[in-house]
Amino acid sequence: MSGPIQNRRVLSGMRPTGQLHLGNYHGALKNWIELQYQYECYFFVADWHALTTGYEDTAKLESYVWSMVIDWLAAGLNPGVATLFVQSKVPEHAELHLLLSMITPLGWLERVPSYKDQQVQLADHDLSTYGFLGYPLLQSADILLYRPQYVPVGEDQVAHVEITREVARRFNHIYGREAGFEQKVEKAIKSLGSKNSALYRAMRKEFQEQGDAGALAKARSLVEANARLTVADRDRLLGFIEGAGISILTEPEVLLTATPKVSGLDGRKMSKSYGNTIGLREDTDSVVKKLKTMQTDPARARRTDPGDPEKCPVWDLHKIYSNSATQTWVQQGCRSAGIGCLECKAPLIEKVVEEISLFRKRAQEFEENPELVRGIIAEGGERARDVARDTLDLVRQSMGMNYR
Ligand code: TRP
Ligand code: SF4
Repeated sequence: MSGPIQNRRVLSGMRPTGQLHLGNYHGALKNWIELQYQYECYFFVADWHALTTGYEDTAKLESYVWSMVIDWLAAGLNPGVATLFVQSKVPEHAELHLLLSMITPLGWLERVPSYKDQQVQLADHDLSTYGFLGYPLLQSADILLYRPQYVPVGEDQVAHVEITREVARRFNHIYGREAGFEQKVEKAIKSLGSKNSALYRAMRKEFQEQGDAGALAKARSLVEANARLTVADRDRLLGFIEGAGISILTEPEVLLTATPKVSGLDGRKMSKSYGNTIGLREDTDSVVKKLKTMQTDPARARRTDPGDPEKCPVWDLHKIYSNSATQTWVQQGCRSAGIGCLECKAPLIEKVVEEISLFRKRAQEFEENPELVRGIIAEGGERARDVARDTLDLVRQSMGMNYR
C-alpha cells in the first residue's frame, strides 16, 4: 500500500499490563506504527478493560498507564499523526457501552469464547462479575464510537470484533429509521448514475435473496467508491443494502496482524505471565545476559553436536532480526556444528541491543518530562472526544434521546 488513504480510519487498544516487551512490540505495536502513516489512527490505553480482570489491585494501574504510553512513544508511535488517548478520559465510551447493553442479548456475551477461556485461565481471579461478562461489549463501544473501517488485532480478539459487528447491525436494525427514508434512498440511488444504480439494485437483490456475501461487498464498494455522495446518502445506501434502515453505527473489519513468532527466553511464547520476556526499554547489560543464557536446541549439549534451528527459539529471533546472509550462516553453522551457540547469538544480540537502545534513547525525554506525556494524552483525548461526541449525538438522536 502506498500513500495515505483518505477517509480510512483505524482504531485499536491495549490493556496496560506493565512494561511492554519484544513480544508486544513485534506482535502489535510495530504494526500500529506502520498503520499510523497509512490511515487516520486512534490508539488508546484500555484502562477500564484492565479492571475487568484486575479490579482488586489497582495500586499499579496508573504507573502502568504512563509507562505504556512511554513504551508506545519509544517504539515510534507518533502523536503528530496518530491520536493517542486513555479510555477512561473519554467517558463517551461508558455511555455508549451502557446504551448498547440495553439491546445486547445475554447469550451473545456468554457465547464469546474468551468468557469461558479466561475464567479457566485466570482461575485465581473471581471473574463472575458483571463487568467481566460485559467486557466484549465495552470493546464494541470502544470501536463503534470511532466508526473505524479497520481494527488491527491478533487472532484472540477476532471474536470481539465479530460481536461488535453484530451489535452494530442490531442497533441499526432497531434504531436506523428515518422519516421519508424510502424516498431519500430512491433519490440517492438515482444519483449514482444509470449504470451504477442498476448495478446497485442488482447486487442488493442478490444479497437480500441469496445472502451472497460477494454481492454485499460489491454493492458496498460501489457506494464507498463514489466520492460525490453526501455522508448521509452514503449511509442510507449502505444501510439499504442489508435492510431498510440507515447505518448509524458502521461495521468494522478485522485487520488481522500477521505476526512473527516471538519466542521467550525459555522457548515458550514471550509473555509476561511466563516471566520469559525482554523489555522494550531494558538496559543493555540485562538484555545481553538474558540472550546469552537463552534456551537453544537441547540436542546441542556439546559444541560439537550439530543442531536444528527449527528446534531453537534463538532461531525465531534471528528470523525477525537478521538479514538473509546471517540467517544462512546460522542454518549452515548450526546444522554442521560449525558455529557454537554463543557465536550464533552474537549478531542477534547486536541487533536487539541496537533496537532497544534506540527505544531507550527515545524514551528518555519522556521519562524526564512526564508533563510531555500528559500533554500528548490530554490532546489526544480531546481529539478522540470530538469524534466520540459526534457518534454519540447520532446515537442519542436515533434513540430519541437528544432532549435537554
Ligand atoms: N480487548 C483488547 C485486548 O485485551 C484490548 C482492547 C480494548 C481493544 N478495546 C479495544 C482492541 C478495541 C481493539 C479495539 O487486547
Ligand atoms: Fe540455536 Fe544458533 Fe545454537 Fe543452532 S547454533 S542451536 S540456531 S543458538
